[in-house]
Amino acid sequence: METRPKSIITGGAGFIGSALVRQLLANGDGRVGIVDNLNSGKLKNLEAVGDRVETHLVDIRDYDPLERIFAGAEVIYHLAAIPSVPRSINEPVPSHDVNINGTFNVYRAAHAAGVRRVVYAASSSAYGDTDVLPKTESMAPRPKSPYALQKLMGEYYGSVFSSCFGLETVALRFFNVYGPRQDPSSPYSGVLSLFMKAALTRQAPTIFGDGEQSRDFTYVEDVAALVHKASIAPGVSGKVFNAGNGGRYTLNYLWEEVQRLEGITLPANYGPWREGDVRDSQADTTAAVRELGHAPRFTIQEGLRRTLEWYRAENA
Ligand code: UD1
Repeated sequence: METRPKSIITGGAGFIGSALVRQLLANGDGRVGIVDNLNSGKLKNLEAVGDRVETHLVDIRDYDPLERIFAGAEVIYHLAAIPSVPRSINEPVPSHDVNINGTFNVYRAAHAAGVRRVVYAASSSAYGDTDVLPKTESMAPRPKSPYALQKLMGEYYGSVFSSCFGLETVALRFFNVYGPRQDPSSPYSGVLSLFMKAALTRQAPTIFGDGEQSRDFTYVEDVAALVHKASIAPGVSGKVFNAGNGGRYTLNYLWEEVQRLEGITLPANYGPWREGDVRDSQADTTAAVRELGHAPRFTIQEGLRRTLEWYRAENA
């Protein structure tokens, strides 16, 4: 009989989830489980490792199957979500349902199934616009969009499941994750995936605002490594940590870099600012380094180079 996986990843067929699957398998997990409704995830993201993945095509809005699937697992990595700030403004109902009610289901099922720890994908958007950079976990959150608020609620629920129910929980605030497999097919897609597609199809991207907004873009493999560390670090239950690289780059700089790497000159179009947009975002990584052993390996230049290489191969 096949042994049950000790790790289960909700959203495991997604861009970040599938990187985490590969990371856990490389670290020695013989098999991992995923829960995904393939809303934005794709089984193709797991192509190379599919035979070591126990796949459950389940929506986290359905509670009952979750409890059965989680039984016997030690760690749940909760990454399933409907992402995107503007999507949550244009379609608030599904994003509320998945990101808040679905997240509650995951914590509740994990507790009922006797899971040791839930590691939750929170978001840097919870900070909103702060007066000071970098952003530290002790700052008061100021969510500016439904998405930011929903992701913050998931952190609070985690801390309450830790204090009231004894479930170990850790929340990681992801800072604009990018890398291979990020899907550029929707207007809600992450900006770097859209820049890669624009460069390869020779169609100018649109930058919302003046392009001087900045983000702490974090390479997907660095995030996956930190997520795994958060599953084993002692004495961190109920806490929230930044999962960023610590740098900060403007969109204008990034589009310049992408053009340089691709050897093209293609000026961007500029459009109106996006509602709910945060101006600047940069992680203080001190706590994650100290308490989780965070050690990001990829500079933005190296991350961009690898990412563009992947999109080139995909487009070939
Ligand atoms: C936000 C969160 C991030 C979260 C993500 C989920 C912040 C600081 N970050 O990312 O933690 O994981 O949502 O979706 O809130 N843009 C363009 N042109 C485009 C697309 C986007 O100029 O075609 C701009 C946006 O207006 C924004 C920046 O690029 O200023 C980044 O946008 P996006 O990649 O969508 O991510 P955030 O909204 O920053």
